Amino acid sequence: MPVVPGRRQRAVSATSSRSSIGSLSEPARAAWEDIIDGQHPESDIGDDPDLSRPNLARMYDYFLGGSANFEIDRRVADEAAERAPASVTFAVENRAFLRRVVRYLLDAGVDQFLDLGSGVPTAGNVHEIAHERAPWARVAYVDHEPVAVAHAERLLRDSPNVTITRADARDTATVLNAPGVAGLLDFDRPVAVLAVALLHAIPDQDDPGAMLAAYRDACCTGSAVAVSHLSGTAFTSDEQQAVRELLEATPTPVTLRDQEAIGRLLTGYRLAAPGLALLPDWRSNDESPPRHPAAHANGYAAVGWC
Ligand SMILES: C[S@@+](CC[C@H](N)C(=O)[O-])C[C@H]1O[C@@H](n2cnc3c(N)ncnc32)[C@H](O)[C@@H]1O
Repeated sequence: MPVVPGRRQRAVSATSSRSSIGSLSEPARAAWEDIIDGQHPESDIGDDPDLSRPNLARMYDYFLGGSANFEIDRRVADEAAERAPASVTFAVENRAFLRRVVRYLLDAGVDQFLDLGSGVPTAGNVHEIAHERAPWARVAYVDHEPVAVAHAERLLRDSPNVTITRADARDTATVLNAPGVAGLLDFDRPVAVLAVALLHAIPDQDDPGAMLAAYRDACCTGSAVAVSHLSGTAFTSDEQQAVRELLEATPTPVTLRDQEAIGRLLTGYRLAAPGLALLPDWRSNDESPPRHPAAHANGYAAVGWC
């Protein structure tokens, strides 16, 4: 890929961060080198990765045992785990929900996925789960975090029917018109929009309900949205405060919403049974059994049909 005009400044600023990558695994280091060398797709949505601040995508990767995270992410994630242990429980149970929900949607006949806030690729990515049952399934990943996107690009290089787009999910028109989305998904057929562990990163003033509605309007009848959302069910008020404080340092502070507020985001969808449930209670089964008591998972999940 050619180095595009305007990248010089970014490359220079990233060079100063080269020493920060010593602790990364080999694939994560390679992805990071791509960023530094200007090999990831040009985007107008933001700056180079900021290693002076922790980042939600990379902290989540760390909670799941991944290696695309940096010292600053690990330090804040460790502090979150210590001051509010249910933060880790959410990450683990959320990943189990992701597996269950992709299989549920495939069984319901949906074989196209728009995965918003797809994160750093880790074990059990959506396309891997989907392709176990439907090798023809199409998966368009979208994330705005440069390390997550560069890492995904490397992993997906030889994966047919899978794309990764760097974009802000709030910019619905850009996402829906991006070549990796519009060129892959057929919106005349059902599409599952995945907003899994994403909406708590969208503050009320950015209207996450309207964002979901815009995606719904782009989809035909028979399409679905799958949502999981961090809540405060397992946090004491001190823990809630600790989480808010720690995540204030990230570019995407978290909005903890209760069941009622999350339900409002899903207005206009027909919710599949069991409705908006505690994360481990959403269609738990022997294939992906919950590992924690439901209320400890600290989040809610639902599937809504268009
Ligand atoms: C906690 S991770 C969830 C990853 C994956 N969906 C899962 O459930 O395993 C949240 C992801 O959302 C991404 N994200 C947050 N706000 C976003 C936005 N406005 N647009 C695109 N991605 C966003 C973050 O970069 C991060 O990778």
